[in-house]
Amino acid sequence: MALEIEKIAKSKIAEVDFSNLSFGKLFTDHMFECDFENGAWKTPKIKPYQALTLDPSAKVFHYGQAVFEGMKAYKDDNDDIWLFRPDQNQKRINISAERLDMPAFPKEYFFEGLSELLKLDSAWVQKGDGNSLYVRPFIIATENCVSASASTNYKFMIICSPVQAYYGGEVRVVIADKYSRSANGGVGFAKAAGNYAASFYPAKLAAKQGYQQVLWTDASTHEYLEEAGTMNVFFRIKDTLLTAPTSERILDGVTRKSIIQFAEDEGIKVEVRPIKVTEILEAAKNGDLLEMFGAGTAAVISPILGFAHKDEKIELPKVENSYASFIKKSLTDIQRNLAEDKFGWRFKVE
Ligand code: COI
Repeated sequence: MALEIEKIAKSKIAEVDFSNLSFGKLFTDHMFECDFENGAWKTPKIKPYQALTLDPSAKVFHYGQAVFEGMKAYKDDNDDIWLFRPDQNQKRINISAERLDMPAFPKEYFFEGLSELLKLDSAWVQKGDGNSLYVRPFIIATENCVSASASTNYKFMIICSPVQAYYGGEVRVVIADKYSRSANGGVGFAKAAGNYAASFYPAKLAAKQGYQQVLWTDASTHEYLEEAGTMNVFFRIKDTLLTAPTSERILDGVTRKSIIQFAEDEGIKVEVRPIKVTEILEAAKNGDLLEMFGAGTAAVISPILGFAHKDEKIELPKVENSYASFIKKSLTDIQRNLAEDKFGWRFKVE
């Protein structure tokens, strides 16, 4: 595969304070870019990170035809760089693209671009606990035309942002009883930009009530628990982990499926089934609800300390030997090449 590489004249890395990063604000020296025109992906390029020039009529601005992915790269003590199950992200961006009537991005371009970019910007992948490079592939519609139909032109890109351990502070959630992030037949399973845009207003209303995220329920009845904020969600009732099955409404999260596989292998009972709000309320009241947590690439696992549902407010007990911390540590040890990778999840960048 032909890949054009234009290197930056002078790296900006010396100006970066790696001990004081806010998530996703700062980007590495280079970016990967590939345009789709006349029905084909053109020669991909790696070039210095820079602003894009797009016509104001580009369809992405008007109809939100855009999908994205998120991954993390880690550096171990031997300076090797590792990704976690990037094959899953590669497949999923094309699943998302298909739903938004966008062309699939070729697998070999994805992996070649990703590896070359990470090698070129390897100094930006910092070692040490909590440090990683957040990798953001995305596709946008670039045809200059405001007619409401699928674009003829697209841009696939990968940009990378150095991040520290994602600590969102204490998280409590409001169970959605009016708004929804997705519906049957919609785009909930896709990592479509608009899914996130549509979640911001309900999240703002939750924040006004003092809650950091929305615990999303099914759109038709609001009786079943589906996702939390931008993450999949797990509940621990006694010693069993529960999570909702993936569906056309729920994102098939890489962290979610890894947690299920890891926990089952550890002998933890996992039930993947529809979870009723009433079941969780009841379990909270009789003391059986021990933990709740969100699962996603950015935070890996984010414990949820309490929730509100209509007029009820529930605070979870403090639990010893929490599944959240055990699973988070185990997964991040695998991701960072500190533990055996018996599932074959690590991918070495070379
Ligand atoms: C994740 O939790 O991995 C996400 O998708 C978060 C991202 C929207 C910043």
